[in-house]
Amino acid sequence: MTTITLAPADSQPEPAIPDRMPVARRYLMCPPTYFAVEYSINPWMHPEIPVSAQRAMEQWTALKQTYERFGHVVEVIEAQPDLPDMVFAANAGTVLGGRVLGARFRAPQRAAEADHYRRWFVEAGYHDVVMPSLYNEAEGDLVWTGRYLMAGTGFRTDPAAHAEAQEVLGVPVVSLQLIDPRYYHLDTALFVLDDSPQRPRIAYYPGAFSAGSLGVLRRLFPDAVIATEADAACFGLNAVSDGRNVVLPLEATGLAEALRAQGYCPAVVDISELRKAGGGPKCATMELRH
Ligand code: ARG
Repeated sequence: MTTITLAPADSQPEPAIPDRMPVARRYLMCPPTYFAVEYSINPWMHPEIPVSAQRAMEQWTALKQTYERFGHVVEVIEAQPDLPDMVFAANAGTVLGGRVLGARFRAPQRAAEADHYRRWFVEAGYHDVVMPSLYNEAEGDLVWTGRYLMAGTGFRTDPAAHAEAQEVLGVPVVSLQLIDPRYYHLDTALFVLDDSPQRPRIAYYPGAFSAGSLGVLRRLFPDAVIATEADAACFGLNAVSDGRNVVLPLEATGLAEALRAQGYCPAVVDISELRKAGGGPKCATMELRH
């Protein structure tokens, strides 16, 4: 005799949560050896508030170990004295298909970082390295989705640098207008969950963008994860995803929950010291795409 178990009439079918596949990454990071907040070039930086370089180093080390635990490779560039923001490696280059577009920093205090990173690329064997002719804060404002290079402007990267990036990297660039000084780099308001060329997926905070740019985001990414103001304000959007594991600040609890519900695995890190300079996990991480 066959027994058929019937579900109660009011039970809903379980929503299918996809099993997300991680993709192995290679990152470049710079230890916060000389980290400090000595000047203010964004609304988060208050030189009168003390920072602990030692805590910053502990938090940076934990971030690096988190990537390594997921099987990613982390290259390290040597920090340089008198460049307290050099820990923010994302701002120093955009690497796609082995081709490097370097950086040109808007703030004079950071300008010298660009050449230290350029030398690192050359010594690491990259022979296709182009330095931008316009202000270009690299992965701070240039976010590769696997299909488009999303390009922020409004505070740092020159809008004309978007065309230069398209020419050098040979990928379609989509310009986005940032309107809130707290989200002065695109990577403080938007990150890529999945960089699959077929179906890229992002998360973003709508309040950081102009109305027109929001229209563009909605059209290109109808299934994006939409973050709240609270998630954005703790640098929750300054996250790093390998397609499955998402490294984000521990305060971004709402976003972590939303990601878990979609099958991602949030891995939280403490970035309290880097935040005092206006940075988070992604700012401290440049992706080396071959
Ligand atoms: N103090 C640095 C600056 O204002 C922080 C950079 C953060 N980096 C980032 N990718 N958002 O330039």
